[in-house]
Amino acid sequence: MRHTKVKDLLNSTTTLQEVNAKGWVRTFRNNQFIALNDGSTINNIQCVVDFENTPDETLKRITTGAAISVIGTLIESKGAGQKYEIQVNKLEILGDSDAEKFPIQPKNKPSLDFLRENAHLRVRTNMFGAIMRVRSVLSFAVHNYFQQKGFVYVNTPIITGSDAEGAGEMFKVTALPFDNTPRTEDGKVNYKEDFFEKETNLTVSGQLEGETYAMALGQIYTFGPTFRAENSNTSRHLAEFWMIEPEVAFNNLDDNMDLAEDFIQYVIKYALDNCQDDLKFLEGRLLDEEKSKPQAERSEMALLEKLNFVLENNFKRVSYTEAIDILRDSTPNKKKKFQYIINEWGADLQSEHERYLVEKHFKCPVILFDYPANIKAFYMRLNDNTEPGRETVRAMDILFPGIGEIVGGSEREERYDVLIEKMKALEIDEEELSWYLDTRRFGSATHAGFGLGFERLVLFVTGMTNIRDVIPFPRTPGNAEF
Ligand code: 4AD
Ligand code: MG
Repeated sequence: MRHTKVKDLLNSTTTLQEVNAKGWVRTFRNNQFIALNDGSTINNIQCVVDFENTPDETLKRITTGAAISVIGTLIESKGAGQKYEIQVNKLEILGDSDAEKFPIQPKNKPSLDFLRENAHLRVRTNMFGAIMRVRSVLSFAVHNYFQQKGFVYVNTPIITGSDAEGAGEMFKVTALPFDNTPRTEDGKVNYKEDFFEKETNLTVSGQLEGETYAMALGQIYTFGPTFRAENSNTSRHLAEFWMIEPEVAFNNLDDNMDLAEDFIQYVIKYALDNCQDDLKFLEGRLLDEEKSKPQAERSEMALLEKLNFVLENNFKRVSYTEAIDILRDSTPNKKKKFQYIINEWGADLQSEHERYLVEKHFKCPVILFDYPANIKAFYMRLNDNTEPGRETVRAMDILFPGIGEIVGGSEREERYDVLIEKMKALEIDEEELSWYLDTRRFGSATHAGFGLGFERLVLFVTGMTNIRDVIPFPRTPGNAEF
């Protein structure tokens, strides 16, 4: 007999003579009521054991974490909270779970820290089951959105020979030995003897390769792992994260902002429509977590309200120059509450500034655009009407409440000569990026794209507060367990 998923049993429209369910015991009460979960839904199915006719030996083995199979009748539940339950006729223990040793005991309310150390088992909790189902649905929504619009999914390389994007510190990839490393005459590592016969790294972004594909296929997107070796031990940074990077030929910065906003609203709506039970649970979790915080630090909106708010309101589009004026005149700046005081135009914005703009000033998602050229990447398009000494580029960052930067993107510098000048000024090797420059040498055109950090999106949608809790096995400085 095939077993039926708990989700389907709970959604049944009739009682059923004989069903089989398999899953893991969450709790076992009164020697009678098993809460069984199989990961198909956040909801458990109650399995009622006929304890008088079940050997004590078996009852003792129904412990939290044990894998079991039950065969019985799906009947209407007399208890509150569920429509159906299983009246068990036959119970089989598939895998024992020693009650003394199984680390995830619901009654102990394990801390998030403890759960991170047990990342291989934390997914057996309601919270992590919900997060990971939402994450999965969001990935599907990402593909759905772009596929429906005719974008081509491109797999850009993970091992890359170019390190010129400058998006972050890179992890080296090498097959050379650490002792007896082959050296050149001047004592440098001789990469000619390495696997690829050159220096290689893990990618920090698929953008440059993505651009070459956009300049042939029109609209493309990437969705893959990205690596940054920055020593940022924050609740927003991972050393390995997933990024979505669309790139579109003939789009300018306004089109790029429209695309990013529409895309984010689509995927959030998709999660709201398809993850109701999980999101309701996560909303409750957040409320609980916030009870321990002072009133002023609590969110003004509950999770679902916040997600709906993002769908129903346009993102506020603000130029960097306007943002600087707002920040300079802000109370925390005047009272020197910011760690980095904003004195003049040209200052790079820190996350405290971004969060002030979004959470205190505008109170909605914000798109900042037209940043100073010298704090942004070389490939961003120089604005036409820019004053000398105050050059700006067609860059955009999308800032979200509680998250800060969720998207970074730009219109690209499509003019060969301007791009070369910029690369010279920044001492970027033209030879090494010759392939990239070919997009500007042959059939160049306006184009634009952006990168969205997938985990930051999952953070926002799930209402979690630490990025380590929205990826199965987080990689951060000092931590690569599992
Ligand atoms: O702003 P970033 O560095 O932009 C790029 O990499 C461009 N090449 C994107 C493009 O135009 N195609 O990164 C994009 C986004 C950030 O806004 C942030 O959401 C996320 O990637 N991100 C990180 N997420 C988690 N951990 C990190 N260390 C991250 N660094 C960036
Ligand atoms: Mg950025």
